[in-house]
Amino acid sequence: MLTREKIYIAPSILSADFLKLGEEIESVVRAGADIIHFDVMDGNFVPNISFGIPVLQSISEIKKNLQQNIYFDTHLMIEKPERYIKDFSSAGADMISFHLEATYHPYRVIDIIKGEGKIAGVAINPGTPLYSLEPFLGVLDFVLVMTVNPGFGGQSFIENVVYKISELDRIRYQKNYKFLIEVDGGLNSDNARVVVELGADILVFGSFIFSGNRKQKIESIRKSISRSEAVLT
Ligand code: DX5
Ligand code: ZN
Repeated sequence: MLTREKIYIAPSILSADFLKLGEEIESVVRAGADIIHFDVMDGNFVPNISFGIPVLQSISEIKKNLQQNIYFDTHLMIEKPERYIKDFSSAGADMISFHLEATYHPYRVIDIIKGEGKIAGVAINPGTPLYSLEPFLGVLDFVLVMTVNPGFGGQSFIENVVYKISELDRIRYQKNYKFLIEVDGGLNSDNARVVVELGADILVFGSFIFSGNRKQKIESIRKSISRSEAVLT
């Protein structure tokens, strides 16, 4: 189970070299990644199509060869996610998040994810206000705060939405909720420190990690956030 005792680094393989996806995953895990973030896009909810169930099934096989316990985090950017939760669960997802904007029945989707024994999260677009999430906060394992409009890697971080992170942190403290806060979009070693200080627990990095030496990139993130982690403990 995920805990609030540490900060999780989650490379998004959307920016990896698909010709050698297996090697890419092994290299970021060796370099210290905790979670593999898997971005599923349907060309409908978002204007792009990425990969889906068979690809997840193949890469899940890698888990058997890994020394440490790695979580596969499936970020569903698809309309009516309730149609596919069981398929992604059987294909090897450990964490599953869907977009609040993509379904009429968020409670039902959370129930399906939990019924599968998986870690359940809800994602919100930059334009979605936090109050629409409030009815679900007590039952969620994590909230995914989007800091770019979903659909593509390599976009610029939208600073104006970071208030959602501190607000979520305040609400969970006040109500004793257990959810973790994941931040996704435009992160690098500089703004990572800022979002951790505001309360983020899981950090997704696509283009930052996969655009250079993976090990050096992950080390630079750890170094940058270590000061904020020290403050947290
Ligand atoms: C965007 C995806 C992100 C993306 C992050 O729709 O949800 O996970 O891959 O990539 P960067 O870090 O390049 O913004
Ligand atoms: Zn994502």
